Amino acid sequence: MGLLYGAMLPMFARRPIVLGGLITPVLWSGLLYSIMQLLNPLLASRIDWIWFMASQIAFGAAATGKRGETAVNAFRHPYVLVALAAILASGCGVPHGQPKKGSEVLAPNEVLEFGTLYAENCAGCHGAEGRGGAAIALANPVYLAIADDDAVRKVIANGVRGTAMPAFAKSAGGMLTDAQIDVITKEIRSRWSQQGVLDTATAPSYAPKSAGDAQRGEVAYKTYCESCHGPGGKGGRKGSPITDDSFLALVSDQGLRTIVITGRPELGAPDWRGNLPGRAMSDQEVTDVVAWLASHRVSNPGQPYSASNYAQH
Ligand code: HEC
Ligand code: HEC
Repeated sequence: MGLLYGAMLPMFARRPIVLGGLITPVLWSGLLYSIMQLLNPLLASRIDWIWFMASQIAFGAAATGKRGETAVNAFRHPYVLVALAAILASGCGVPHGQPKKGSEVLAPNEVLEFGTLYAENCAGCHGAEGRGGAAIALANPVYLAIADDDAVRKVIANGVRGTAMPAFAKSAGGMLTDAQIDVITKEIRSRWSQQGVLDTATAPSYAPKSAGDAQRGEVAYKTYCESCHGPGGKGGRKGSPITDDSFLALVSDQGLRTIVITGRPELGAPDWRGNLPGRAMSDQEVTDVVAWLASHRVSNPGQPYSASNYAQH
């Protein structure tokens, strides 16, 4: 390109410097830029056009500044050589065959940025901001106060069998590396937890300490839950059915326990302290009410469709 331009220079060697040293180089650079964009956008993107134009101007000025000399004569002058070198260098901003800085696309297992990991793997179920999805909110400080990193990490890595919560660790058939799961676990806490959210209250433990008793659980249900979820857990004015076999088929016992302790504040479900004003549930009552809910599980959820409906005829 530099040579081509050099060949053109004699045409305006006798013209004022403005034409040869400024206007023509700018027009020429613009023309080349457009042609390159059309013919080879990849190559065009590799050229540093600012430098290219600067070098053209330098070269034009050098050549036309010497009135009466042709471009070929101009080669004798060192500063013209410098300008020429600049022209050649303008195409070499990036070594050939190597992508520009920042234009590399990370392989999926190299992504360590929480926003991307969360948006691509979790937001669909747990909500874009960690709440408001179909699954329990992770951006719930009460949840993060009762579940430690080990518990959270284990669920992310291994999923929850029998529910929609997938296993994400490669070792469990998922797509995320250990490092990625560490980032997610750490960031969930640092973004969404809140010091002192439990006040002076002692929350029931994340995992149950004993086996629950469904009969005592029924009593606890009537005391704390019936006002919203209706008699028998079949649904009420303020809460949906929670003994429905299809609902129970999709949630684990730990999932139920988590919801009873943490509530779903974004949906208006109170935590373990808020069901009955002034009376928090005890750890045992939480365990028992979960046992009572779980006692409604059936072996063939989703009836009244009888098995014969699905039989192949
Ligand atoms: C396809 C839907 C879905 C996706 C995607 C999903 N989850 Fe879940 N997640 C669930 C469901 C449903 C549960 C409740 C499971 C149960 O019943 O115990 C859950 C439970 C959890 C729990 C445990 C809550 C508890 O009780 O301790 C954590 C932590 C969690 N998910 C984190 C994540 C993270 C982090 C991601 C992304 C890497 C993710 N989930 C992706 C549906 C999903
Ligand atoms: C003040 C009313 C209220 C009380 C009291 C209450 N809940 Fe809820 N509960 C809700 C609301 C609102 C939701 C979220 C919307 C829905 O599912 O109805 C909810 C959701 C739930 C869910 C999840 C349902 C789903 O579809 O994901 C469970 C399980 C649950 N509550 C159990 C209980 C238990 C057990 C108790 C008693 C210990 C209780 N709730 C007390 C209002 C209440």
